[in-house]
Amino acid sequence: MKRKVKSLGWGVRKEGRNIWTRNAVKGVSVRKERRKRDGRNEWRLWDATKSKIAASIIRTKLNPVDLIPLPGQNCLYLGASIGGTVSHIHDCVCGSRNHHKGQIIAIDVSTRMMRELVALSEIRPGIIPVLADARNISEISPFVNKKVDWLHQDLSISDQAKTFVKVVEVFLKNNGVALLSLKAASERMSDGDTENKFDKAMEIINNSNLNIIEMIDLKGLEEQHMLFYCKLK
Ligand SMILES: C[S@@+](CC[C@H](N)C(=O)[O-])C[C@H]1O[C@@H](n2cnc3c(N)ncnc32)[C@H](O)[C@@H]1O
Repeated sequence: MKRKVKSLGWGVRKEGRNIWTRNAVKGVSVRKERRKRDGRNEWRLWDATKSKIAASIIRTKLNPVDLIPLPGQNCLYLGASIGGTVSHIHDCVCGSRNHHKGQIIAIDVSTRMMRELVALSEIRPGIIPVLADARNISEISPFVNKKVDWLHQDLSISDQAKTFVKVVEVFLKNNGVALLSLKAASERMSDGDTENKFDKAMEIINNSNLNIIEMIDLKGLEEQHMLFYCKLK
């Protein structure tokens, strides 16, 4: 039986339970993910158990299209790692040889991750790899020359919500999309169980200049993870 294909905007589609992005670098996988041809295009499987953005696209109760940046947009990604999720964002925002003229400023503090991210950026123009500590605005700001349309923070550190609020207030455009992937286990400093940690993060965001549009529980795809979808007030 042929699965129903639903477009989620340029370069992203949902087929059954799977999400695919249109591969900007045909013939190359980034994390050994499946690829398949469809006419002149090639699609890469966006694994929702390895990407909190893909998991949120599946779990959101609102329109998933609103979580995905548009072609040509300017994005800031904190905690890029080796660029697994960054590469799928690149498929949508930049496309092949960056014909959409988008940009993803991809920050990570680890030199090991940065080596792979630099290699990825060489075959995917539009990705700007930056070795920096995302908690320090002064380390990031030289690379962000205009406010961004879309921001994702996915850092395995404590005080994730505080860092998120600080960064979003400085770098996000009005009406831009800000996504925080919060891992309860990383919040070692705050007391309580997973729910308490999510509540604490919610309180910090509610007391800031941000509105929470949706809290997306990623249970079943990414355990103990909540994605906070926010906008500036
Ligand atoms: C969970 S992984 C990110 C996975 C990635 N977002 C993806 O979906 O492919 C967290 C990353 O945050 C990075 N990180 C941790 N603390 C950081 C900090 N203070 N500044 C920048 N990056 C940091 C780690 O090196 C690690 O690569």
